[in-house]
Amino acid sequence: MKATAVAPSNIAFIKYWGNADPQRNIPSNNSISMNLSGARTRTTVAFGAAFTADSLVIDGQPATETARARASRHLDHIRGLAQTDLRARVVSESNFPMGTGIASSASAFAALSVAGTAALDIALDERAMTELARLGSGSAARSIPSGYVELEVGSSHTTAYAHTLHAPGYWDLRDIVAIVSREEKSIGSSAGHTAAETSPHFATRLSELPARLETVRRAIRGRNIEALGEAVEADAISLHAVAMTSHPPIYYWAPATLRLIHAVQAWRREGLPVYFTLDAGPNIHLICQAEDEADVLAHLADIDDVLETLVSGPAEGAQLGDKHLF
Ligand code: PMV
Repeated sequence: MKATAVAPSNIAFIKYWGNADPQRNIPSNNSISMNLSGARTRTTVAFGAAFTADSLVIDGQPATETARARASRHLDHIRGLAQTDLRARVVSESNFPMGTGIASSASAFAALSVAGTAALDIALDERAMTELARLGSGSAARSIPSGYVELEVGSSHTTAYAHTLHAPGYWDLRDIVAIVSREEKSIGSSAGHTAAETSPHFATRLSELPARLETVRRAIRGRNIEALGEAVEADAISLHAVAMTSHPPIYYWAPATLRLIHAVQAWRREGLPVYFTLDAGPNIHLICQAEDEADVLAHLADIDDVLETLVSGPAEGAQLGDKHLF
């Protein structure tokens, strides 16, 4: 009745932004990501007749009621699979700050899906597990398979699933998060997905995506950092252009975010192949090849805005673990 799972966060090279079906988190577009070796969530789930309500502890603190209710809704999906009413105790720990553009919901719902189903002895294949994780958070579907992953939009619950494009060892890329703020973002990605279609630029973004998705697939396949980096930056800016022109408008950037974008462009002009991307928060992810990691970190060390860096390579997907949190 108790199980533990460890799941990586992931960084999207082509972002998921906007839902075709908000009830079931069926995205408006395919997305492509890399699982992050340095950003993980470990979650232990136990179901029991002694529990009168679902409880959730995150990083040693009782979760907010909003977070608890969201986890509880996801547990309802898992309970539905096992046809049980048992309530659960959930304890979760992440090694990175939450809500700051490092996708904490991705690793959290991937880990909750794997641990929750195992705790109730439900056997799902990888594809079905990605569909379950997607119900918790769209990007969580991409933290189930290993390495470089694509989430297909599909047209129904069972066709919107994620799968590996390449194993982690295929290309030794780095994602270096430059943390410029540790504050929780005020507008979560769920609100952003809802607002997306109110932007006049959303339709343009969707029309550009088939070509950009193909560019990214080809760039990863050919291990071409320049082609990947250009497409990744264009996609991040496209997402933020949609967010900033939504109703209500959403500005995720801090002044330091833009200063870092300028810095990355300057480093590139000096010959360092490093590119940026941004999720729904002010912190900036720098993408480079492993051979340039030390150089990028040395450049970041000179910038006062950077509070902390978090380095990841490509990682395996979510897995069961035996180190329980209670
Ligand atoms: O899974 P969600 O609802 O937190 O959405 C993720 C949104 C982005 O992180 C901005 C993009 C992505 O594809 O990860």
